[in-house]
Amino acid sequence: MRVYRSQQLIRPDLQAHIFSQDLLDNVRKLKGLCPAKTKFCAVVKANAYGHGISETVNILMQSSVDAFAVATVYEAIHIASLTHKKPILILEPLNPSQSIEEIQLCANHGFDCILSSLDSLKYVRQALKKTTAVLKIHLNIETGMGRCGIMSDLAETLMAEIEECPNLKLTGIFTHFATADEEDLSYAYEQQKNFDNFITDHHLKERGVVIHAANSAATIKMPQAHYDMVRCGISMYGYYSRRMSHPPVQLKPVLKLQAPITQIKGLPAGHPVSYGRSFIPQRHTRAAIISLGYADGYRRCFSNCAKMKIHEHFAPVIGRVCMDQVILDVTDIPNIQPGDMVTVLDNCHDSECSAYALADLAGTICYEILTLIHAHVNRIVH
Ligand SMILES: Cc1ncc(COP(=O)(O)O)c(C=O)c1O
Repeated sequence: MRVYRSQQLIRPDLQAHIFSQDLLDNVRKLKGLCPAKTKFCAVVKANAYGHGISETVNILMQSSVDAFAVATVYEAIHIASLTHKKPILILEPLNPSQSIEEIQLCANHGFDCILSSLDSLKYVRQALKKTTAVLKIHLNIETGMGRCGIMSDLAETLMAEIEECPNLKLTGIFTHFATADEEDLSYAYEQQKNFDNFITDHHLKERGVVIHAANSAATIKMPQAHYDMVRCGISMYGYYSRRMSHPPVQLKPVLKLQAPITQIKGLPAGHPVSYGRSFIPQRHTRAAIISLGYADGYRRCFSNCAKMKIHEHFAPVIGRVCMDQVILDVTDIPNIQPGDMVTVLDNCHDSECSAYALADLAGTICYEILTLIHAHVNRIVH
């Protein structure tokens, strides 16, 4: 097996503060929405949505999380030594781009893997043929997401073939909602109905497989969709998939991103700022240079529109965001000096630099803002 390069370069000056208690509280509150028997699968893919996968898993091991979900086999290997044999579900379906060694490794590690096509089944069966390994399989049923799930008529064949194969054991059935985060849940309920029909038609409740469907939004808004397990990502980190005016649980963002002021300088009125001279100050301006840029995950589209927080004041970004520098107008902010830390991404929903506020500016969702935080940003666990 190849050795995969791990992130070695860390920038101690760029600090993502991870508040353990908030993460644990969010998990407790989300679990509180579900029946006691419903298992909680913590989704820690994409470097735990930017929070640092090892740090996050270590904190979650102090909670009553039942399982972890990652995107890839590489992430599963990375956390396997931290999870003390709790189940790890790999969300990317098994597929022929993977080496035979990888498939065997999944079986030997006891990872829960996903099958969603007959081609992949054939490949996996071949990969395990000469072994006594048994690979745990969850089937992803297409109910309306239109991504990797298998169409229900083909799923029948797939289940029959899994049953015949001594190297495969069906341990789970699931689906994924396309619109559970939207206000109108009618399509999500339609998906749920398709899923329920599949479960009933194939007597899956009687077969002892783990049935699961709910992401964060469905965990919060669709109690009928909790089944045997929920798979929560974004809400565990403190966010509703999109802003909610009257959420049934109060979640707290877990991460605060800070960067240092490296220089403060005066700029006369009319003196252009940064690449392209897109900002021309109208007054004598005190500018603070922040040691962070788009190479660290702070989007270039925040140029001339985002704000950062310094000692409870908000300072506007002026000029273009550079690869590793941002310039703020701090003319109206007293008592600041080089070396002070500014808050780039705040752990408060109402902040002018919350992940929601930044997502609005970038025309995206808070998931993208969080996952873009570069791996070299130092994660500091409190
Ligand atoms: C299959 C699957 N389940 C669960 C999740 C978690 O979703 P959320 O972060 O909205 O809770 C994801 C995330 O993309 C996913 O792909």
